[in-house]
This record gives sequence, structure tokens and C-alpha cells, in this order.
Amino acid sequence: MSNFKEKDYKVFEMFQKEWALVTAGNLELFNSCTVGWGDMGTLWKRSVVTVYLHPSRYTCEFFLKNETFTVSFYPPSCKEALAYMGSYSGRDGNKVQSAGLTPVAIGDSVTYAEAKITFLCRKLYQHQFVKEDLAADIQKYYHENPKSFPLDDAGSWQPHWIFVGEVIDVMECS
Ligand SMILES: Cc1cc2nc3c(=O)[nH]c(=O)nc-3n(C[C@H](O)[C@H](O)[C@H](O)COP(=O)(O)O)c2cc1C
Repeated sequence: MSNFKEKDYKVFEMFQKEWALVTAGNLELFNSCTVGWGDMGTLWKRSVVTVYLHPSRYTCEFFLKNETFTVSFYPPSCKEALAYMGSYSGRDGNKVQSAGLTPVAIGDSVTYAEAKITFLCRKLYQHQFVKEDLAADIQKYYHENPKSFPLDDAGSWQPHWIFVGEVIDVMECS
């Protein structure tokens, strides 16, 4: 594992501007999607990466079922591939192939050969945000964006799931 704790990651830019792919599963069966929300920091004395997945994402099902996941970051040349991975669902076809990405194993999980850096994480915590505990403006934000955050079968809005992972390996491409 590289000395990742000594690196000056621009966490806000990495997630919000550059985006990341989050992946769970193994090479036989996995799914990924693009995320723009995420954090890195310290929790329970561990170095953690936290990501937030809406229950409508197929990837969320994989996160719920697997004990590890990866969060991977890409060079600017992959921006189109990331936009694709964030616009199509793995439920509807092989979006990885269409995006031109090459899956590779890391530990018992999966990342892509095109990644410049991948964090392999052991899941420490998962929970869905409690609707009533969200600030009123955040509840409103969900209400006003049913296209981004599809309603459940009963027709109600759903908040994201939180996944906190301890960094157990880092793969960097020079
Ligand atoms: C730039 C960008 C950022 C996104 N960020 C998130 C995010 O942080 N959390 C999330 O649940 N979905 C996010 N999405 C939406 C998912 O990537 C998108 O719904 C994807 O098609 C889900 O694929 P899946 O059904 O195969 O999991 C983002 C999409 C884009 C394009």
C-alpha cells in the first residue's frame, strides 16, 4: 500500500469536479456507477472513504451485499466514460463495455485498469439516512429532483445510503 496518508488529496475536487467510480462485487458479478458525493477522513481511528448511494442505483444492491468496495479516480481522458457510467444502469446492459473500461481485480473486489488511483475499502458501516432527520431544505431537494432520485414502488422519495469503508489497500498507476 502506498503512503496515501501523506498525500495532499484535493478531496472536494476529486469527488465534485473529477468524479469517481464506486464498485462492489467480484470479477464474475460486479457493478459500478459514477459518484460526485464522497469524503475521505478519519473515523474510529481508521482512514476511511465514505460514499452515498441512492437506493435506486443497481450499484447500491452490490454495496449492501458485499463486505468490500472500491472507489477509483481517473485521468481527464476518462471523463466521457465516467459520464456514461453515471447515465446508464448496469441493470440494462453491459455499460462497462460500452464505456470502454477494463475491469481488473483488486483484493476480492474490482476496479478498472484506466484508474489513476483506487482505494480498496472494507465496509465498516452502512445505513440509509433517516428522512425526518434531514434538514428541511435537503428534504425539499429530494422532493424537487425525482428524476435524479426516483421514487420507490409506493411512490415516496428515498434518501441515500451511507457506506463508510476503511482503506485497506491503495493501487496507484504512475
Ligand atoms: C457526475 C455524476 C455524479 C453522480 N453522483 C452520484 C452519487 O454520488 N450518488 C449516487 O447515488 N448516484 C450518483 N450519480 C448517479 C449514478 O451514477 C447513476 O444513476 C447511474 O446510472 C447508476 O448506475 P447503476 O444503476 O448501474 O448503479 C451520479 C451521476 C453522475 C453523472
